[in-house]
Amino acid sequence: GHYDTGGYAHYLLKEISEQPDTVARTLRGRIDDRFHIAHLGGLNLTPHETRAFRRVKIIGCGSAYYSGQIGAQLIEELARIPADAEPASEFRYRNPVVEHDTLYVAISQSGETYDTLAAVQELKRKGGRVLGIVNTVGSAIARECAGGIYLHAGPEVSVASTKAFTSTAVAFALLALHFGRVHDLSPADGRRICDGLRRLPGQIEEIIAGGDHIAALASKYADHPSMMFVGRVRGYPVAREGAQKLKEISYVHAEAYPASELKHGPLALIGPETPTVAVVPDDELLDKNLTTLGEIRARGGRVLMVGHREPDAKLADDVILVPKNEPELDPILLGIPLQIFAYHAAVVLDRDVDRPRNLAKSVTVE
Ligand code: AGP
Repeated sequence: GHYDTGGYAHYLLKEISEQPDTVARTLRGRIDDRFHIAHLGGLNLTPHETRAFRRVKIIGCGSAYYSGQIGAQLIEELARIPADAEPASEFRYRNPVVEHDTLYVAISQSGETYDTLAAVQELKRKGGRVLGIVNTVGSAIARECAGGIYLHAGPEVSVASTKAFTSTAVAFALLALHFGRVHDLSPADGRRICDGLRRLPGQIEEIIAGGDHIAALASKYADHPSMMFVGRVRGYPVAREGAQKLKEISYVHAEAYPASELKHGPLALIGPETPTVAVVPDDELLDKNLTTLGEIRARGGRVLMVGHREPDAKLADDVILVPKNEPELDPILLGIPLQIFAYHAAVVLDRDVDRPRNLAKSVTVE
C-alpha cells in the first residue's frame, strides 16, 4: 500500500529514491512551453498584484527554512525582487514589521508545524498577504494561506525531510520563473529555465544511480566526530541542509558555514579529525571555492567535494560529481547526494534512520 517501504530498507531510502517521480509531479502541468512561463493557478494573484510586490519574505522551520533560502536566491536571480528567508519562529517572536508591498511565503511539508502556523496567523492579523508552499493538501497552514503551491510529492513518512525539501526548491523555481516573466526575465531565459526544469527528473535518476559511490564515501567518513559543510551563495543553503540531514539521522556533529566565513573563526576547527564537505557548483564562484579547498587542505583537513567537475587532485580527497543544469537550478540537484550520504552514514552507524531520537515528524507544539 501507500505507507509501506515498498521493498526499500527504510522509508528514507524510498523517499530519496522516489525523487525523479516526485519532482516530475511538482512540475506536472505547470510549465508552458509556448510562452516560457509557469502556470500556478493556486497563487490567486493577478499580474498587476504580482508586480506590486517589492519584496518577498519566506518563512519556515528547519529544512523548510533552508529550502526557503534556496527559494529566496531563485526569486532574486530570476525576478530581481529582493527576497530573504527566516526561521518562522524567530519571525513571529520578534514582532515583525508587516509591509503591504511584501509578499510572504510560508513553507511546510506537513502543513501543521505550530511555529509556522502561528507566524502565518500573526501575518494575517497584520494584513499581510501569505502564500503557502505545502505538501499536505488541506492541512492547517494550507487553509490559512490565501493561495499557494502544493508540492504533490506524496506522503513523507521518514522524520528527515528529503523529497519535500527537493520539491519545495522546485516549486520556488516555478514561482521565481512566474515572477520573473511578469517582470523582466526574457522569453529566452524563460525557455532556458523551462528546459532546465524538464531535465531535473532524469538528472536526479543519474544521481541516485551513483548511490554506491556515495555509500562507500559515507562509510569512509562516518566515524569522524564532527564534519564541516561549506558553500558559497547557491552552495550555502545546500551545505546547511546537508549538515542538518547528517546531524538528525546519523548524530554526527556537523556545522555549516558560508565558505568565505571559514577564516573568520571556524577554520580553527579544521584538521585531520574534522573533514569538510564542500558544495562547489561550476559557476562564477568556482575559483573562489577552489581557493577555499586549498586553504582547508593546507591545514590538514580532508575534503569531500560535491560539484560538477573533477578538481585538481591536490584540492579534494574525494569527489561526488553531479549532473550540471542551469546555474540557478543547480542547488536542487546538489542537495540530493548529501541526502544519500547522510542516509548511508546513519545506516553504517546503526541509527534508527526513520525515527531519529528526540525528533518528531511534525512539531505541533511551541
Ligand atoms: C527535516 O529533516 C526536519 N525533520 C525538520 O527540520 C522539518 O523540516 C521542520 O520541522 C519543518 O517541518 P514542516 O515542513 O512539516 O513544517
